[in-house]
Amino acid sequence: MKETPPKSKPEWLENAIFYQIYPQSFYDSNGDGIGDIPGIINKLDYIQSLGVTAVWLNPCFVSPFQDAGYDVADYYKVAKRYGTNSDLKRLFEEGRKRDIRILLDLVAGHTSIQHPWFMESSKPERNQYTDYYIWTDAHWKWEIPGYRVVSGYSQRDGCYLTNFFYSQPALNYGFANPDPNHPWQQPVDAPGPMRVRQELKSIIRFWLEMGASGFRVDMAGSLIKGDPGNRETMKLWQEIRAWLDVEFPDACLISEWGVPSQAIQAGFHMDFCIPFGMPGYTALLRKAFGPGPGTDPYGFSFFDSRGHGNIMEFLDEYLGHYQKILDMGLIAFPTGNHDINPRISKGRSTTDLELVFLFILTMPGVPFIWYGDEIGMRSLDYLPSKEGGYNRTGARTPMQWSEDTNAGFSTAATEKLYLPIDQAKDRPTVLQQENDPDSLLQRVRRLVAIRKTHPALQGSAPFKILFAHPGEYPLVFLREADQESFIIAVNPFSHSVEAEFPYLSNSVPQTIYGAAAGLIANNNLWKIHLPGTSGGIYRVAKS
Ligand code: GLC
Ligand code: CA
Repeated sequence: MKETPPKSKPEWLENAIFYQIYPQSFYDSNGDGIGDIPGIINKLDYIQSLGVTAVWLNPCFVSPFQDAGYDVADYYKVAKRYGTNSDLKRLFEEGRKRDIRILLDLVAGHTSIQHPWFMESSKPERNQYTDYYIWTDAHWKWEIPGYRVVSGYSQRDGCYLTNFFYSQPALNYGFANPDPNHPWQQPVDAPGPMRVRQELKSIIRFWLEMGASGFRVDMAGSLIKGDPGNRETMKLWQEIRAWLDVEFPDACLISEWGVPSQAIQAGFHMDFCIPFGMPGYTALLRKAFGPGPGTDPYGFSFFDSRGHGNIMEFLDEYLGHYQKILDMGLIAFPTGNHDINPRISKGRSTTDLELVFLFILTMPGVPFIWYGDEIGMRSLDYLPSKEGGYNRTGARTPMQWSEDTNAGFSTAATEKLYLPIDQAKDRPTVLQQENDPDSLLQRVRRLVAIRKTHPALQGSAPFKILFAHPGEYPLVFLREADQESFIIAVNPFSHSVEAEFPYLSNSVPQTIYGAAAGLIANNNLWKIHLPGTSGGIYRVAKS
């Protein structure tokens, strides 16, 4: 097996911009209160109008929804509430017509307790599925350090390992170093784990053949147990990637791993910069909004108008990963997702949000927009948990389309909606922002269009920091391609700031977007002046 993954990546990734859709909350086409796949097809023109090139769809498969579909009971069938397999196929086709690729969510590590494999596996008689899951060999041994097990579930004498909730039993990909004192820990090449691996490939093949463009892989780094440094898990994905490179070279694999330097080495084309794995993401965007320095135990984000953030908390970590994955893969940068609550809009004005988008849409890698963030949708505090959402629930509420009943999301009676809709009088909607040239939606569209026009702002074009100091604002960086260079500056702080940085060029900068900053070339020592809460993209002659 190859030690290093091939360096190729599907070409379409270079200028990709993703939109993440939570199917139950996007658009309800049949009035039952739950978003569905025909609803997404219905809104494809809107999605296209954003300028995005791909969609990642949260799980849409048969499930008892004990974790909103991350507990799959049939990997080959769309859940009834979302439609049918032919609806999904139509979504792939209609997406293609608009140059939008559709990627699915692959829950590789566990199934639902209601999956037929698990129902068989939980029987005391040995059968084909006995070793599809990880069971201890005696019911009363339920203290297994380092693992969570469920006891007393069925007549099978043993406890099963779970990856997340009790309803999500871990599939058996084996143990990297099986403990001889625990013979129930099987090696990765035992017959059970090898069969599970084949199942995984069959699932991938099935949807790619139908027209999916790839997968976001749930908890991708945790498949093999007792795996220091994730070495065996990396080998497993390298094998899958090598197979994909031959059979589906245009398909893309994105990991929920949170350690890009590992995940890309493992063969993923992209891994996420997310709080789970990268606390730098939190330091950049998500530290709690407290009353002031010294009183907030969580400190401040860099993107906070009070100006107490520290950009280095993000950059040190990010650059560590970035430098290790150059030329091999990309870092996915999300505005939010279904696990992050509150939404990015919390505590931020339209211009504050515009700066977040300006940053995300000019960074290397691939930007991901969580549905609704493009209009600054708010999360709802204190919602009761829905389908295992718990504190994540408030960031998953229905998309707000218009001033109609239920914000145009559904014609169902309000109490039948999947989740309540923001009732605030000034809640943002797509319709209202379509009609306002200065809305967040329009600003996001302009930024997306700029990224798509200039290769220097895309996936793997070089990236260099020009000004970043602990506790100081702004952040200034450079993106370059063969023909063009851009200086990007962001000042989330509400006060005006100045910075000086060395840059070898005496060209006159041209403002492509944002504040016509005082950006002055001065004997290769450049100076920038930025008003409070501002930023911009400036084209300069190639150095
Ligand atoms: C991932 C998903 C999350 C889910 C969990 C278990 O973290 O993003 O929503 O609950 O895995 O599958
Ligand atoms: Ca519906």
